[in-house]
Amino acid sequence: MSAQEHMHLGTCYYPEHWPEEIWTEDARRMAELGLDRVRISEFAWSRIEPEPGRYDWDWLDRAINTLAEQGLGIILGTPTATPPKWLIDRMPDMLAVDRHGRPRKFGSRRHYCFSHPGYRAECARIVTALAERYGQNPAIAAWQTDNEFGCHNTTLSYSESAAAAFRLWLAEKYGDVDALNRAWGNVFWSMEYPDFDAVDLPNLTVTEPNPAHMLDFRRFSSDQVMSFNRLQTDILRTHSPGRDIVHNFMGFTTDFDHHAVGGDLDVASWDSYPLGFLEQFPNFSAAEKHRYARQGHPDMAAFHHDLYRGCANGRWSVMEQQPGPVNWARFNPAPLPGMVRLWTLEALAHGAELVSYFRWRQAPFAQEQMHSGLLRPDSSEDVAFGEAAAVAAERRALPGPEAARRAPVALIFSYEAQWLLGTQPQGQSFRYLELAFAFYSALRRLGLDIDIVAPDADLSGYRMAVAPSLPIVRPKLLAALTAFDGPLLIGPRSGSKTEDFQIPDTLPPGPLQALLPLKVVRVESLRDGLTVEGEEFSVPRWIEHVETEIAPEHSAGERGVVFRQGGVRYLAGWPDTLLLDRLLRRMADEAGIETLDVPPDIRMRRHGDCVFAFNYGPEDIDIADILPDSAVDRMVIGESTIAAAGVAVWRDAG
Ligand code: GAL
Repeated sequence: MSAQEHMHLGTCYYPEHWPEEIWTEDARRMAELGLDRVRISEFAWSRIEPEPGRYDWDWLDRAINTLAEQGLGIILGTPTATPPKWLIDRMPDMLAVDRHGRPRKFGSRRHYCFSHPGYRAECARIVTALAERYGQNPAIAAWQTDNEFGCHNTTLSYSESAAAAFRLWLAEKYGDVDALNRAWGNVFWSMEYPDFDAVDLPNLTVTEPNPAHMLDFRRFSSDQVMSFNRLQTDILRTHSPGRDIVHNFMGFTTDFDHHAVGGDLDVASWDSYPLGFLEQFPNFSAAEKHRYARQGHPDMAAFHHDLYRGCANGRWSVMEQQPGPVNWARFNPAPLPGMVRLWTLEALAHGAELVSYFRWRQAPFAQEQMHSGLLRPDSSEDVAFGEAAAVAAERRALPGPEAARRAPVALIFSYEAQWLLGTQPQGQSFRYLELAFAFYSALRRLGLDIDIVAPDADLSGYRMAVAPSLPIVRPKLLAALTAFDGPLLIGPRSGSKTEDFQIPDTLPPGPLQALLPLKVVRVESLRDGLTVEGEEFSVPRWIEHVETEIAPEHSAGERGVVFRQGGVRYLAGWPDTLLLDRLLRRMADEAGIETLDVPPDIRMRRHGDCVFAFNYGPEDIDIADILPDSAVDRMVIGESTIAAAGVAVWRDAG
């Protein structure tokens, strides 16, 4: 996928689900629709290797040929998310174990434990077999490793294999067990270990386990995902050099470090199900769930686009795009007519290399028979088919992925922060992901473009930066923040812990005191409805008591809430929308970045020489107020009044 002029469109296809007689017609219709990519085989292990060691390649050879004959580039999935029954029967202890100590049974998918050495060997074997057979096949455009690591709560496993691997990981990290005991503070409650072999996994304890134990277990579990993926990428790079390697991450999944796994990929992709996510995730209010039931939250997909663009050197895709109702959320409404087109164009506007629809045809059987596709089970066109066709034509007039530019604003996102704050929320409504999402949404409501970056990212080139919360500040991060010369906003609980999950000697924000001379001497979490009132804004959920000589920029009662020195601001509480909007607008002004009063349901994005506006609302919206002079003469798509679920695109004058 190099030197790419236009975004690819594709679909997820399961030839093994359909009679071979219809494959040719399917492939022809895909090409006719304007698709040029197709992902196959990621769950097909039981057909590729029906019995141990007996491979059946013939059907897959024919499927690949049939698709390739229509000019479709194939993304070949490694089938390791669905180990077949014979393999489980041979090594039953490869099953993952949940935190209650119960093995996860065969009968769906993702039932393996990342740490099981025997399963890893089996994965290496099947991936090698696939890569040897198809690695040089010109039809193979890319590889996908496994499927949605971590989905269905599968990152953490409390198996014997995980315990054994964790002990090795700890021994490697700490060298001797006294160092571990000191780091974790195991003198507390007589938790000291005599040696590494005595350390167990942090589940089934009477009350909460030591948070340092938990954080190390989470770091370890994340490393296991990374090495499991790397096992596959190493094999694929050996046998299939020059092909892109992709993984399809799942939205709102934070149990492993996607930046770390992304480091071994060529392209980070993710699976975008805006309606399912809106319904399933607690972040969103009942009012939002209602208003956006058929559109998805206006920032949900974009948040992930911008996050995954930061995971593999800027290259990213949507591997699965929701095409209509799904089957897995509590309620599964249909997207408003036009939404599938909108979601696809929005991915394009964020620089996606590919949007691939899940799935080609709705399956009449098994778990996902109620999940729509581009085609209905009887092969007639479903609604999304027409919308995909529309984008297939429209993309030709729009900038391709290579036109992507650096956004003016960086939002620093840390998976480790999520694990740490999730391990010790200290108040049940302190939810890091929600805080990061609130910062992101506030920036988008000002019409700003954002890059979501890793904590070790280089911040030079950004004009403004925000860090919703960074509890652990390592030297590299401190250096990047110190060197940054634009407005910088650092959120609550930043610098509040050492790498060992202890309170820093100088009190929070620890190392950040080099940037801002202040001390957090006490913190309070606030139950729902209890707030500290400020000038016009209020502080819900969390407030810090700060000692400093710096006069606060904003206060709530006697508590300073925002402290500023030079371009750096520290936010000593959970910001409400008003405070966040006001602060971010002021910072953008200081940085000389233009902000807009974007209507509530509209979102904007600049890409190449185009400006995109998306209407996430259920009614028409006229955006004349924010349209630059003469932009109507430069319209590429749509007009100043954008219909519900509609899109407008104009060429940027500058
Ligand atoms: C994804 C998964 C697909 C399919 C889809 C249904 O999470 O990767 O295999 O299950 O959800 O929406």
